[in-house]
Amino acid sequence: MIRKAVIGGTGVYNLSQNSRSETVKTEYGIVEVDIVNIDGEDIVFLARHGKNHSFPPHLVNYRANMKALEQLGVKFIYATVAVGSCNELYNPGDIVVIKDFIDFTKSRPLTFYEGGEEGVRHTDMSSPYCYNLTNIFYKIAEENNMQIKGKAVYVCTEGPRFETEHEIKMFMQLGGDVVGMTNVPEVVLAKELGMCYLAVGIITNWCTGVKKGAIEFHDIENSITKNKELITRSFLKSLKEDLHQNNCSCSKAIIEL
Ligand code: HPA
Repeated sequence: MIRKAVIGGTGVYNLSQNSRSETVKTEYGIVEVDIVNIDGEDIVFLARHGKNHSFPPHLVNYRANMKALEQLGVKFIYATVAVGSCNELYNPGDIVVIKDFIDFTKSRPLTFYEGGEEGVRHTDMSSPYCYNLTNIFYKIAEENNMQIKGKAVYVCTEGPRFETEHEIKMFMQLGGDVVGMTNVPEVVLAKELGMCYLAVGIITNWCTGVKKGAIEFHDIENSITKNKELITRSFLKSLKEDLHQNNCSCSKAIIEL
């Protein structure tokens, strides 16, 4: 059983050169992962969009991805997400920890529970992002002089298009700090499977209309290149800490009817 995983978002496609590929068959589809051995312990790496960034955000097979991790035995997940910022305090190039989400997706399978054999289940969303994984990540960041700019509310859009200026104005009024296209349903499915999950945001651009100028691909690329090593190294250090589910609600998020 492999208990720990890292999910890489846009621009983060491996943890280490020293890895072996594994194919996991799930009832939702086939998933390719890398198994990386870190100081004698196997850790799973999953590229959210596929190894060659082949799935756009609305077509990522989130259920297959998360089910594959469950089948491997995973309980603890750190993930990266590339995001735009609509909060003046968070600049392109900054790193934020995601503390909550607002869901504006439209057409994705959102749950493992579709009635039938699986039944009907509702999942508690009072703390989607694990309290323990958050605290550990903060501690490791401090020890390694990595600046975390703050805790951000993530607005998830359907994509793959970027937002209009007035959509962003609305998200700001709703309390959104950063905007991305992938964290829902990933975090929700993690909760349905009783996993501890934390997403760390790499701010790649100002959201549409927040500052003058269009969103440029090279800005997005630069922010990710600057941060990905730092973040994945911190994930691996965080995953070495004493991980347990004794004092978080992650394993008990499904509300029994
Ligand atoms: N909007 C949505 N998703 C994103 C953005 C954005 O501005 N930047 C990176 N992912």
